[in-house]
Amino acid sequence: MTTLTRVPIPTLTRSNFVHDHYTPKIPQTLIFSNNCSKLFSAQIWVEKRSKLRRFKVVGMSDLNLSTVLVTGAGGRTGQIVYKKLKEKTDQFTPRGLVRTEESKGKIGGAEDVYIGDITNADSLTPAIQGVDALVILTSAVPKMKPGFDPTQGGRPEFYFEDGAYPEQVDWIGQKNQIDAAKAAGVKQIVLVGSMGGTNLNHPLNSLGNGNILVWKRKAEQYLSDSGIPYTIIRAGGLQDKDGGVRELLIGKDDELLETETRTIARADVAEVCIQALQHEEAKFKAFDLASKPEGTGTPTKDFKALFSQITTRF
Ligand SMILES: NC(=O)c1ccc[n+]([C@@H]2O[C@H](COP(=O)([O-])OP(=O)(O)OC[C@H]3O[C@@H](n4cnc5c(N)ncnc54)[C@H](OP(=O)(O)O)[C@@H]3O)[C@@H](O)[C@H]2O)c1
Repeated sequence: MTTLTRVPIPTLTRSNFVHDHYTPKIPQTLIFSNNCSKLFSAQIWVEKRSKLRRFKVVGMSDLNLSTVLVTGAGGRTGQIVYKKLKEKTDQFTPRGLVRTEESKGKIGGAEDVYIGDITNADSLTPAIQGVDALVILTSAVPKMKPGFDPTQGGRPEFYFEDGAYPEQVDWIGQKNQIDAAKAAGVKQIVLVGSMGGTNLNHPLNSLGNGNILVWKRKAEQYLSDSGIPYTIIRAGGLQDKDGGVRELLIGKDDELLETETRTIARADVAEVCIQALQHEEAKFKAFDLASKPEGTGTPTKDFKALFSQITTRF
């Protein structure tokens, strides 16, 4: 016989769940509430371990894990998010969206990686169906004009390829994703943007005449107006360094750009994206994110406390 039991537990793993507050029938469906808004349900089979009424999970089939689509999954931060989610299959069913077969190959080429172009709304439909949460890590990428010789001094010039301007990728492309998510009933969106958006004259805006921060900001506004629970992470300068070893800093209105601490490891941004999916405190928030240098401060482990510091909705 199958029964339904509500069991609050701090974490859910396949191997170490022990609970002693109920007497189960075998098998039964449990609804797990793991400290956040999401409810997991799973079919488990339990066996009696002792007369103390402790039970051990000996098998569990996933019924309703959170399906998360990561777009830009072939990008430098997107890859990390996708791979981290793949390591947490007891909590997430990850999907990736990439633009090319080549990008798909870079992240293992699994069947859960879809190919699509965010500037073409129709191409998002297969990937977004059935998704609970969307993590947006797509971005226009400026290219350096050929012929720059660093030994001659001066600055390199940049351009965007046709069809890949920030207006098309960071505005229309993000808007397409938000619209597709809304139509598909997606329950949460995490969007990674960039610090600097409060300054129209920020040097990044003149790269390739793309006004990249202006278009990113417009998409952020669109998301915050969408009604879908969101987290907007405006990262500082991204670095390819190990994550989990620095104290993370929350800021607002680009104030961190006036300090010495205005960079962050891509691995830390990736972890914050995943943690945002797991904490109510991250919802309906937009914030700047940087870190102290490694070796100073205390590495951030308590993400509930980190998200609780955020006071800004946009
Ligand atoms: N670089 C920095 O210092 C910095 C600072 C602050 C914030 N940020 C922001 O942080 C985020 C992550 O940066 P990152 O450097 O990790 O990203 P990235 O490596 O530049 O990746 C961007 C991804 O977007 C994808 N993409 C571009 N156009 C697309 C399209 N039309 N359809 C589908 N996918 C498309 C690219 O796909 P392909 O793999 O096919 O090219 C690429 O995987 C970005 O929003 C970035 O602007 C960057």
